[in-house]
Amino acid sequence: MTMIILGIESSCDDTAAAVIDGDANVLANVVSGQDAVHARFGGVVPELASRCHLEAITAVVDEALRQAGKTLGDIDLIAATQGPGLIGSLLVGFCYGKALAFSLARPFVGVDHMSGHLLSAFLEPRQPPFPYLALIVSGGTTALFRVDDFSRFSLLGRTRDDAAGEAFDKIARLLDIGYPGGPVVSRYAEQGDPSRFALPRAWLDDSLDFSFSGLKTATQQLHKQLACRNDASRQAIFDLCASFQQAVVEVLVEKSIRAAQTEALSHLVIGGGVSANSSLRRELLRRCTEASLHLYLPAPAHCTDNAAMIAFAGLQRYVNGDHGSWGDDVFSRSKL
Ligand code: KG4
Repeated sequence: MTMIILGIESSCDDTAAAVIDGDANVLANVVSGQDAVHARFGGVVPELASRCHLEAITAVVDEALRQAGKTLGDIDLIAATQGPGLIGSLLVGFCYGKALAFSLARPFVGVDHMSGHLLSAFLEPRQPPFPYLALIVSGGTTALFRVDDFSRFSLLGRTRDDAAGEAFDKIARLLDIGYPGGPVVSRYAEQGDPSRFALPRAWLDDSLDFSFSGLKTATQQLHKQLACRNDASRQAIFDLCASFQQAVVEVLVEKSIRAAQTEALSHLVIGGGVSANSSLRRELLRRCTEASLHLYLPAPAHCTDNAAMIAFAGLQRYVNGDHGSWGDDVFSRSKL
């Protein structure tokens, strides 16, 4: 009989629980967000995030079990995000999962959130073969990894400053157009002209690292100039968003193609919240087709923070014999 795995994710501002089976079928995938709590601050407030997790965790786990048609007694393994993330937030999901596993006498594994994103394509009907290249773009990370199997991940490049999602969020805050920033900037960009403003791209020579802080500063300065000239019309803001988005997308796509060619990889997987961006998805599809690369675009619900990917990555850790111990603690920085 196949295993039933309960996954728990609470690394930032989403309280999530999922139930999957040993064949990676997602039986339930529940996410409770906190956007309404953080919106007026323009970013996640760590103390509020951990308090919201505490309030939500029991209901979210119960709802996942209900949707999956399972009870706690049916669960064979519990996996929870161990890091990276906000320590107060991580502690809620990790301790909850650990205590639940201990009381049920079931095994418990901590999962690196990044490994969840790197393996999220396995939750889809069409799965990539090893080895493959993974571009992970979220609010906390922008990185390229070579994935050789379920536990061997090699970092090829990462952001030296802001993550791409963080840059989107900061631009939205600067323009005061809403929260979270990525989806709003992307919506505005759809109505703008991406060629109106020439914004910088940080290529960093041959490196596969990223940098978005220069682009963010240039966008800020441009916005200031527009405001001084009394030219910050609605259309100018649309054009600014479109020009900013195009600069981010161009660098992400170009470096991914370059990394795949350098590593001789013909399969590319994307993950993380920014991979829900339609311009990024379109451009990746176009460039991968041109370069004869196979692209795997997980469903948006598997790209953003979710517990199904944590359950799957936890299962892989467990079957590889990496069981962790009851003394394990959370960590704020990824070890990958
Ligand atoms: O992976 P994720 O759900 O969680 C964290 O990193 O915590 O990613 C969230 C990030 C945010 O920065 C959000 O603004 C960005 O993903 N994001 C987007 C889009 N949807 C979400 N960025 C650009 N375009 C989008 N459509």
